[in-house]
Amino acid sequence: MWLKNVWYVAGFEAELEDSAVIARRFLDTPVVMYRTSSGQLAALDDLCPHRLMPLSAGKRVGDQLQCGYHGMRFGPDGVCTEAPGQARPSDKACITSYPLQARHGLLWIWMGKPNLAKPNLIPDVHWYQDPAWVPSDGYHLIQADLRLLNDNLLDLSHESYVHTRTIGNEEEESIANFPLEVTVEGDRLVRAHREMPNIDPPPFFAMILDHKGRIDRWQTAINLAPGINMTDVGVYPVGTARKDAFVGHVLHLLTPETDHSTHYFWSMTRNYRLDNAPLTQAIRDAVNLTFDEDREVLEVQQAQIARLGGAIPRVALRLDEAPLRARRLLAALVEREQADPDYVMEPLPLIDDRYLQG
Ligand SMILES: [Fe+2]
Repeated sequence: MWLKNVWYVAGFEAELEDSAVIARRFLDTPVVMYRTSSGQLAALDDLCPHRLMPLSAGKRVGDQLQCGYHGMRFGPDGVCTEAPGQARPSDKACITSYPLQARHGLLWIWMGKPNLAKPNLIPDVHWYQDPAWVPSDGYHLIQADLRLLNDNLLDLSHESYVHTRTIGNEEEESIANFPLEVTVEGDRLVRAHREMPNIDPPPFFAMILDHKGRIDRWQTAINLAPGINMTDVGVYPVGTARKDAFVGHVLHLLTPETDHSTHYFWSMTRNYRLDNAPLTQAIRDAVNLTFDEDREVLEVQQAQIARLGGAIPRVALRLDEAPLRARRLLAALVEREQADPDYVMEPLPLIDDRYLQG
C-alpha cells in the first residue's frame, strides 16, 4: 500500500523539453507525460481504452497522443478527440489524467484524489534550482522497495563499508562509532544527525576540498515521508571556521515504480566552487558510482526478502533507530489515509537551522 495523496517526483523538468514524451510507471500505474506547445504539462494513463496499447508506443501529433494501433487521439486532458472510422468518438473513450506540476526544476505528479492536489503541498527542495547552489544530478532505477532505500539513506553508517572508494572512511574510523542524534518532527519527518570531528577525509571530500589533512564533518540524514530524502553534509579543514564549511545538500527523491522497484532521482547540490564545471562533473561521476554501490546492496536485500520472506531487519541494531522510526511513521500515514481518503499532509521544511550552528 502506498501513500497516494502526496506529490511524487516524476522526473526532471528538463526531460520534457521540446516535444519529448516520457513513459514511466508510478505506484504500479503506467503513465505518459509531455508538455504541450503552450507549456501545459500533461500526465495520462499510458493506455488506449480501445485495445489497451500503451499510448507511448504510438506517436505525438501536435499536442495530442495518437495510438499506434488504430489512430485514436487524445488531448492533454485525456479526452478522445478522434476515433478513425466514425464521425465522433464515444464519450466513454477518455483516459485518466493526473495533476502534473513543475517546481524547483522537477516534475511532480499526484496519483491520489485529483481535487486534493494543491501545488503548495509540493515539498521544498529549492536547492536543485537555486542560483546559490550547483547541482550534480542523475537517476537510478533500483529494483528494491522504496522503504529499503529510505532505510539505507537514514543509516549512513554503511558508508564505512559500502562506499570506501568515495564517501566512506576506513573501518578504524567507522561512522557508526560517532554518536547519532535522532529526532522526529510531526507525523512525517525524521532526522539523524552526527558530528564527526577531526577525521581523515574520505577520498570524495579530499577531492572537493582539495585538502588532504584532517577535517571536521557533519552529516544529517533527513527523511520526509514517503520518499523525500536529503543528506545535509558539511566538511571543513580542522582549525577553520564551521561557517565557511563546504556544504552539500544531497537530494534523494524517491518514487515507487512498483512495490519492488523505485525511481531514484538524485542531485548533490553544493554551495562552493559554483563555477567549476569539471568539479560538477567529477561530483556527478563520484555520486553515480556511490549510488551504484547502494544499488548492489539494495537489490541483494530485495532478492533475499523475496526468497526468504519476513520483515527486515531480522535483528535490529542500534543504528537502525532512524530507519525503524521512519518505517513506523510511513505505516501510520498509510493507515490514516486508508481510514480517511481525503487526508492530506502539510509540507515540513527539511532543514532545521539549529544543525548549521554547530
Ligand atoms: Fe549509500
